[in-house]
Amino acid sequence: MHHPRVYAADHPLIAHYLTRARDRDTRSPLFRELVGQVGAMLAYEATRDLPTRPAEVTTPLETCTGIALAQPLTLVPILRAGIGFAEPILRLIPDASMGHLGLYRRESDLTPVAYYENLPASVSQGPVLLLDPMLATGGSGTAALDVLRKAGATDIRFVALIAAPEGIERLVEHDPDVRVFVGCIDRQLNDIGYILPGLGDAGDRLFGTL
Ligand code: PRP
Ligand code: URA
Repeated sequence: MHHPRVYAADHPLIAHYLTRARDRDTRSPLFRELVGQVGAMLAYEATRDLPTRPAEVTTPLETCTGIALAQPLTLVPILRAGIGFAEPILRLIPDASMGHLGLYRRESDLTPVAYYENLPASVSQGPVLLLDPMLATGGSGTAALDVLRKAGATDIRFVALIAAPEGIERLVEHDPDVRVFVGCIDRQLNDIGYILPGLGDAGDRLFGTL
């Protein structure tokens, strides 16, 4: 799938880690590690064009002009599975602020149910990385985008480990500006909204609640 606002990773390490994460025999400790590693690599790509400004710095030898980020950056994981991305990406970008959105898919009709929202003021002052390992029907993603737009976010970059083509299409059609960074675009959804081949339920695998 080619779309100007969609970046699908093309890196052997990401592909290798994803294959290990997909394996049903991979248990939670390694699964968490793999999700975090890929999340950090995707965040690296998603922040490649962050706005910068010149910043004077004095080294032990002299003063020179370096570069600093021009705007505050905010991470917003969608609970629960987004927690698997949050800490590893915060280690990559320790100056970022973090908001949280609690959403789950109602099993009967796959519609998102919101249960928690805590966003810092920075969401309206600079880029936002919206974090969720799984983009399936796109219901949770579009609901989260609506909350962020209402809070004043203008530059939103959605970061996902695995996406279904249906979810990506829904996201980019719903929101004319969002950009999407994914580790892999899988084949399709099954009839109960799971990604094929996918990796199963990311939240359950991260937190051992299978
Ligand atoms: C999963 C996943 C996404 C959502 C994706 O969350 O983490 O948030 O499903 O599906 P969608 O694109 O069809 O909305 P889930 O509802 O299982 O909640 P959990 O993370 O709390 O387990
Ligand atoms: N949520 C998941 O965790 N996995 C899927 O395949 C779809 C939604």
